[in-house]
Amino acid sequence: MRRLRCLVAAVFATSVWASEEGSTFSPARPPAIPLAVKSPYLSTWLEAGNDGGNGGYLAGQWPSFWTGQTVTWAGLIRVDGDVYTWMGATGTKNVQQTAYEYTSTRSLFTMNVGGLVEMNITFLSPITPDDLKRQSLVSSYLHVEVTSIDGASHDVQLYADIAADWVSGDTDAIAQWDYGVADGVAYHKVYRQTQLLFSEIGDRAEWGYWYWATDHQNSTRYQSGSADDVRNMFSATGELANSEDTTYRAISDNYPVFAFSIDLGAVDPSPVRSLFSIGLAQTDAIQYATKSGTIAVQSAWTSYFPDDVAALTFFHKDYSQSSSLSAQFDAQVARDSIAAGGQNYLTITSLSVRQAFGSVQICGSRDKTYAFMKEISSDGNMNTVDVIFPAHPILLYTNPTFLKLLLDPLFEYQESSLYPNSWAMHDLGAHYPNATGHPDGKDEPMPLEECGNMIIMALAYALRAQDTGYLEQHYSLLKKWIQYLAVESLYPANQISTDDFAGSLAHSNQTNLALKGIIGIEAMSVISRLTGNEADSANYTAIAHDYIDKWQTLGIAHDADPPHTTLSYGENDTHGLLYNLYADTQLQLHLVPQSVYDMQSNFYPTAAQKYGVPLDTRHTYTKGDWEMFVAAIASGDTRNTFIKDLATWINDSPTNFPLTDLYDTITGDYPDSSLVFKARPVMGGSFALLLLN
Ligand SMILES: *[C@@H]1O[C@H](CO)[C@@H](O)[C@H](O)[C@H]1NC(C)=O
Ligand SMILES: *[C@@H]1O[C@H](CO)[C@@H](O)[C@H](O)[C@H]1NC(C)=O
Ligand SMILES: *[C@@H]1O[C@H](CO)[C@@H](O)[C@H](O)[C@H]1NC(C)=O
Ligand SMILES: *[C@@H]1O[C@H](CO)[C@@H](O)[C@H](O)[C@H]1NC(C)=O
Ligand SMILES: *[C@@H]1O[C@H](CO)[C@@H](O)[C@H](O)[C@H]1NC(C)=O
Ligand SMILES: *[C@@H]1O[C@H](CO)[C@@H](O)[C@H](O)[C@H]1NC(C)=O
Repeated sequence: MRRLRCLVAAVFATSVWASEEGSTFSPARPPAIPLAVKSPYLSTWLEAGNDGGNGGYLAGQWPSFWTGQTVTWAGLIRVDGDVYTWMGATGTKNVQQTAYEYTSTRSLFTMNVGGLVEMNITFLSPITPDDLKRQSLVSSYLHVEVTSIDGASHDVQLYADIAADWVSGDTDAIAQWDYGVADGVAYHKVYRQTQLLFSEIGDRAEWGYWYWATDHQNSTRYQSGSADDVRNMFSATGELANSEDTTYRAISDNYPVFAFSIDLGAVDPSPVRSLFSIGLAQTDAIQYATKSGTIAVQSAWTSYFPDDVAALTFFHKDYSQSSSLSAQFDAQVARDSIAAGGQNYLTITSLSVRQAFGSVQICGSRDKTYAFMKEISSDGNMNTVDVIFPAHPILLYTNPTFLKLLLDPLFEYQESSLYPNSWAMHDLGAHYPNATGHPDGKDEPMPLEECGNMIIMALAYALRAQDTGYLEQHYSLLKKWIQYLAVESLYPANQISTDDFAGSLAHSNQTNLALKGIIGIEAMSVISRLTGNEADSANYTAIAHDYIDKWQTLGIAHDADPPHTTLSYGENDTHGLLYNLYADTQLQLHLVPQSVYDMQSNFYPTAAQKYGVPLDTRHTYTKGDWEMFVAAIASGDTRNTFIKDLATWINDSPTNFPLTDLYDTITGDYPDSSLVFKARPVMGGSFALLLLN
């Protein structure tokens, strides 16, 4: 990760609280509510926290991309001729939201419409860890259920649209569109007229085709045209014109929208359902540098479907299966999280799921699959090793293959001798979707951190997947990195660690960074043993044990009250979250004595603020991901306090963008306007505790 240099100025704009009140939020009111979150480019949220959100009400505010840029998504309902807004800020009176609830894959809103009918609105972004075909589709569902609640039957029509601002970060870009029906699915296809392959504007994809679809039924009608015209048509008549506006134009030129209306007829107390889906089809997804040149890697769904319409119709018609697989996954996360850390823990884990997977795209063919991860919001790097590392608990928990698919291109690139340095590279390319590597070796230098991370994650994957072949395959590169760790770990030279946004430490000798290196050496001794390299194994474990003994003298303020590890050697009045200790337990190395664990568990409560324990003594802010690493290995009481404080923060926080991993432990807000981390995959680290049970 990299320090942020320039940033959004409007972040702290005064909030406009919606007039609606009275919704419940369960299990919490997140900073931003995930709506359609499935990839770095399908990432649509509802800002909730009061820095810029409306408290979590679907009606009355436009959804936004993770950056905060508006993506227009509107919903209207007409009941006995009266029109209400259920999504977006159309200006028509809003339905009354009575409840919001989230699970790992769903956001559910319950709306009361004039005391006459009730709507259940479900946004489902499916997660199917064991099914790469489904997981590779960059699409999400919107399901609406309507019933009468006053005993009478009502004449109901439903409406939903998207605008062309889904297709580009530049509202001056010219959009083009088309309407079609295939296999019982009606769809609007909307796209940038000039496709800019592999390009982004404001983190939005400037290539590919968006599909906005619903079931094609007799009662379904469609229309494209300017937002006012189309919505007015529905409001006045309850139906659309089945017509297309073919004046292709700029996104912001008389805002073209793409709408469906569905006549639900006479609605009584038995529920009537409608289904919509939204997705992005990019055939070429990633540019990737290989030994034989830079190649285009396709989206993995292209190897399962002949074309994007076939992928769309499969996805749309797969709702019941996809929904039931996602429900199984929700139930698994709920059961495991509650057993490991109670409801507060589930509040955290279930909110992290879509965010973590929303940074990943599954690419390649069925024979050669890759996963690519975007370092969302901090700098857009690809497959950043110290971002995969904090995220990796959720990957191992759901399916260790995901971790392998992310590490594979890193190994492949470095084993092709395309990277000149003797240490592990920081990332696969400076900006998503260009995995063009660093042939000049001038990636962000984080040598100790990344060597440790690669070795630890390789072993973690191999143990979880029982795949020692993977370790054999990569043994020589892993061994090269251990050279570096053996020399550099005990007294880390002046260098940045993953927490570089906090400023590189004035001194070298970072206690926590040293620990990562030392644990990495011990992990390598296990790798050597598992691959039959006994002499190496004996050598590395001897080095690791020697270092860990010395580290306990160098890195601990023994005379402090209570004693604790320091931020850097000899700085006895400093401290920090010792999150690198986690791997010692995760990999069952037993390198670090229990006394160090106990000491830290005893110490953290003395440094706690309202919303958690600061990352270190330099600031009052903390990192949610590292807190969960630390909580996972803490004693029961200390662990529960970490979990409770983070869950409380999620519900209280004024932050308004998708779950930040960096917040102030006293105010609950962003540290300042130059440090606004959003939607980062690292929150997948909240699953740390689930790997230990
Ligand atoms: C909405 O969901 C709740 C809880 O599952 C259920 O009791 C209610 O009947 C549903 N209402 C509609 C309109 O589907
Ligand atoms: C990726 O590389 C292409 C050139 O191959 C360039 O046009 C594009 O802007 C780059 N994308 C990003 C997001 O940097
Ligand atoms: C839809 O329309 C077709 C042809 O007009 C008709 O045969 C069919 O019964 C209709 N279906 C429904 C569900 O109304
Ligand atoms: C032990 O490992 C270190 C670090 O890789 C290496 O420098 C040293 O030569 C090894 N010693 C033996 C005896 O193999
Ligand atoms: C690192 O710590 C060791 C042991 O305390 C000390 O000798 C050395 O000077 C320190 N390095 C720096 C750059 O401060
Ligand atoms: C820090 O504490 C250790 C004992 O834990 C002590 O040996 C050392 O002198 C202290 N360092 C400073 C700078 O006070």
